[in-house]
This record gives sequence, C-alpha cells and structure tokens, in this order.
Amino acid sequence: TAAEKGGYDHFMLKEMDEQPQAVRDTLLGHLVDGQIVLDEQRLDQQELRDIDKVFIVACGTAYHSGLIGKQVIEHWTRVPVEVEMASEFRYRDPVLDRQTLVVPISQSGETADTLEAVRHAVEQRAKVLAICNTNGAQIPRESDAVLYTHAGPEIGVAATKTFLAQVAAVELVGLALAQARGTKYGDEVVREYDALCSMPDAIAATLQAMQPVRDLAREIAHEKAVLFLGRHMGYPVALEGALKLKELAYMHAEGFPAGELKHGPIALIEDDLPVVVVMPSPTGRPTLHQKMLSNVAEITARGARTIVIGEPDDAGARELAAHFVEVPPVPTLLSPFVQTVPLQVLAAEIAAARGYDIDKPRNLAKSVTVE
Ligand code: G6P
Repeated sequence: TAAEKGGYDHFMLKEMDEQPQAVRDTLLGHLVDGQIVLDEQRLDQQELRDIDKVFIVACGTAYHSGLIGKQVIEHWTRVPVEVEMASEFRYRDPVLDRQTLVVPISQSGETADTLEAVRHAVEQRAKVLAICNTNGAQIPRESDAVLYTHAGPEIGVAATKTFLAQVAAVELVGLALAQARGTKYGDEVVREYDALCSMPDAIAATLQAMQPVRDLAREIAHEKAVLFLGRHMGYPVALEGALKLKELAYMHAEGFPAGELKHGPIALIEDDLPVVVVMPSPTGRPTLHQKMLSNVAEITARGARTIVIGEPDDAGARELAAHFVEVPPVPTLLSPFVQTVPLQVLAAEIAAARGYDIDKPRNLAKSVTVE
C-alpha cells in the first residue's frame, strides 16, 4: 500500500534510500573490546584459526557479494577463497573437510540451491557460517553459525539494500578471520571496522547526488543493450549492475572483467553502445587505473558511449568519458558500497522510463525455493 511505501512510488526506491541504515545496522555491535564478534551462535576462535580454505556459495545478487568477499577475505587473511554459484557447487563434488569454512549467503535463507549446498557441506563435515537477512530461516537453522544482515524486510524483487548489507557482512567475516588468525591485530582491526562504519555516510552522499544518473537513464532507455566493465573490486559491481538492468529493464546487459575486453567483448562495441565503466581509484590503485583508462580509450575510439563511475579527481577518465558519474573517494576494498549505487539507480530509472513495474519484474521471484 501507499503507506508502506512511505511516500515513495515504489518499494525499490525506498529500499535504495534505506541502504545507509541497512549497512549501519549490519555493522552495529560487532566490535566489542577491540574484538570482532559475529553473532550469538558462532564459531570459536580456535575453529576460525584452523580454517585453511573458504568456499562462498550463493545465487543471484548474493553471489556478487560473495565475489567481493573473496577479494577482502584473501587480502586480509591470506586464506584461499573460492566463490561458487550454489547450483554448481553441489554437483561437482567439491573438496571439503573439517578445516573448510563454507559461507552460504542468502537474503531469504530459503533459496533451494543454497540450502542444498549447505546440506552437502554439513555432510562433508565442513564448518558452515551463514550470512542471512531472515531470522530463523532454513539456511541459518542448518548452519553451525550465522551472521545476520540487518537490512529489514525487502519487498522489491530486485535486491538492493540487502546486497550492501551482505557486502558489510562479508567484510566482517574477513576481519573476524584475520583477527583469529593473527594476520590483523589490535588497532588495525579497529581502524578497518571504523572505516566500514563510515560507509553509511558515503552511501548517503552518493544517493544525494544521483540526479545526473536519472537524466542519463532517460537518454539511454531505448537502447538495445548495455555493457558493464570492471576490474578487481569493480568487477562484481559491474556484474551486479548488469544483473539489475536485466532484471528490471529487460535489456540485454552483460558485465565483463575489463582485462577480457580484447578476448571477445570488444567485438560487440559499435557506435553509441552504452558502456558503463566502474573505475578504480587513480590514487588508491594507480596501476589498475592506468590500464582501465586505456580500456576506456579503446572503446571510446570504437564509438562506445562511455559512462564512467569514478572519483571526483579522476581527470583522465573525466576527459575521455561521454558521461562521468562521481562517487565519493573511499578505500579500495570498500568501493562497492558507493559504486553499486549509481548502477541501481540507472537500472531502476531505465526500467521506469520503459514503463515497467520495478517492484515486480516479470518472471522473477523474490526467493527461488525450487531447483
Ligand atoms: C532471486 C532474487 C534475487 C536474489 C536471488 C538469491 O533470484 O530475485 O534478488 O539475489 O534469488 O536469493 P537469496 O534469498 O538466496 O539471497
């Protein structure tokens, strides 16, 4: 009803604006006396210390938060992390044992494939730590431990606030593991946690500055396809941007790692094709930034209409881009918190311009409880 939408035309728009709160509530209370703690039902320090391999399993948007988790956990802990779609994981007899940590990520906690992946992990005696947004759902019930995201109920079928809450959760898992294993200790952990706690304000600032994206969306709403390019932290963000556009606007949308451009995707570039580029920080990751800049030059030269998501002081990208969308500068490992936002807005606005119901996209269900 209109009252539940709190003055918004659609739940999705309201839920996008609730992202700062969702991230804040998810982080709240997880640093106690300088120690990262997960939730009540948890693995002990010894169990965390003994982990020598991590598998993240999930579907859809949750899978993209898993890809972000991989980058963060490996960087902070030096433990190898694999991310796998839950539907693939269970059919290929993955190598698991008591020292393996399996992290299912699921907003609903009821997704059939993710649940079956959990059951497989439990059978293999792996430790299972679920990330879930729904209290008491089946996946957390069957897991050894759970870290809840506190995004509140999400009505829009396309995940938004639960995605950023999942990103916050995987960052907490990374910190907890790093602390238990001693790859991060003392003040370092507190500093990383504080940086995470500054994300709600950064997300709010990003949301405030989205009018140019709405205008741009109207301009490209009737194109046939949109490509999304990213690298490192920007790659899962590109995948999520493409998924949102497919789900909401029914447009052909594809996310690629920018380094793969020459191995195929560049053949798709033609005059005026919109290409969204998720730019790494020019100061935080100068080498990566330089490579990405050459990619932008290559596609621009072939006629693409480049839409670059970058930091305000990124003069190089600003000069090449057909449209430059500014997001606040934040530490590289936290960049998905801000870079995802314009892609959500872009998808919602394009869908609205095409006349579609953004809360209930055709053929999709909020949670897929059959395989
Ligand atoms: C469906 C929803 C997606 C969601 C995916 C996984 O496809 O439409 O928005 O990302 O399921 O759902 P889960 O509840 O496991 O996170």
